Amino acid sequence: MGYNQPMLRDNALEGQVIIITGGGSGLGKAMTTYFLELGARTVITSRNLEKLQKTAEELEKSTGGEVLPLACDVRHYDQVEAMLKSTLDKFGKVDALVNNAAGNFISPTERLSANAFDTIIDIVLKGSKNCTLALGKHWIDIKQEKSTVLNIVTTYAWTGSAYVVPSATAKAGVLAMTRSLAVEWAKYGIRTNAIAPGPFPTKGAWDRLLPGDLKEEFDMKKKIPLGRVGEHQELANLAAYLVSDFSAFVNGEVITIDGGEWLKGAGEFNMLEKIPEQMWDMLEMMIRSKKDK
Ligand code: HXC
Ligand code: NAP
Repeated sequence: MGYNQPMLRDNALEGQVIIITGGGSGLGKAMTTYFLELGARTVITSRNLEKLQKTAEELEKSTGGEVLPLACDVRHYDQVEAMLKSTLDKFGKVDALVNNAAGNFISPTERLSANAFDTIIDIVLKGSKNCTLALGKHWIDIKQEKSTVLNIVTTYAWTGSAYVVPSATAKAGVLAMTRSLAVEWAKYGIRTNAIAPGPFPTKGAWDRLLPGDLKEEFDMKKKIPLGRVGEHQELANLAAYLVSDFSAFVNGEVITIDGGEWLKGAGEFNMLEKIPEQMWDMLEMMIRSKKDK
């Protein structure tokens, strides 16, 4: 079995209804596909209904599952409430919310207008807050026994990152929300977790983060100790586990899936990897020769 194979047993998500924001493209689409293959019914949302309808049609055909495409700009609470209502009208319940929708682009921060900064904060932080609040209120109101919120952040939620400052600021907020609600809402049976992916090539991200020749100039694989980028099925496997009952005791966790990338950037002496094998004998001799001098 390879790492890009489906991981969970058949029907692991049977009976579940899962909302995936930004589910019409990229990683959201990959997670939706796998949730469907595992027997869930899904709701995919974003601003572009046409794109969602196309994805829904494609996935219904390929998986035999049921997909409800709904236009919903997560920045607006009234649209999120309407999206929840349409979901309940169609499926009668919701078991899990995946806050996956995001906006991002590279830019020196001083070049950003106030509105550009706000736009990213509004999609990522306010959007995740809007969906979480609407769903949380609903689950608490109806005394649903168990439910799950899964937030897609990234590793710079805790390290920060230059040139994507609004996204880093917003993802850090989502991470804080994850850990806070994991404690506060556990008494209502709501588990809250997060995934922090490293690079998983998608059109949405790569067009905005590595435009033009940057893809070749900054080869992401070189930053990653495992020497490769992530495959969509790997992320889908982890997401499916975290919304499934198999992870019933996992709460408030953020799981990094980045091949060791952020730690490579963080470790003080990680640059010593560049030292050729044959140089280590000489270095060891030099170090030992200093003993007791
Ligand atoms: C500077 C920019 C800009 C740019 C837009 N703006 N692009 N400023 N450099 N490249 C400014 C605009 O001029 C405007 O400010 C403000 O931002 C809002 O732009 P709009 O185009 O009006 O906004 P909107 O149509 O809502 O589009 C949002 C968007 C767009 C974020 C700008 O890129 C988008 O739709 N993105 C959605 C998908 C996405 O980003 N996916 C990637 C996620 S990747 P003014 O002042 O002029 O009004 C990700 C990965 C993280 O998160 C980790 C990777 C390892
Ligand atoms: P993507 O395909 O661009 O996904 C972003 C999605 O968000 C799109 O479907 C977009 O759809 C939707 N969206 C944007 N603004 C929205 C809004 N206001 N309301 C509702 N939906 C909105 O990029 P991706 O790479 O798959 O990213 C998915 C998630 O993974 C994001 O949270 C991202 O931060 C995270 N992530 C990705 C990587 C990576 O390497 N790809 C790494 C770390 C984290 P519309 O444009 O149709 O609205």
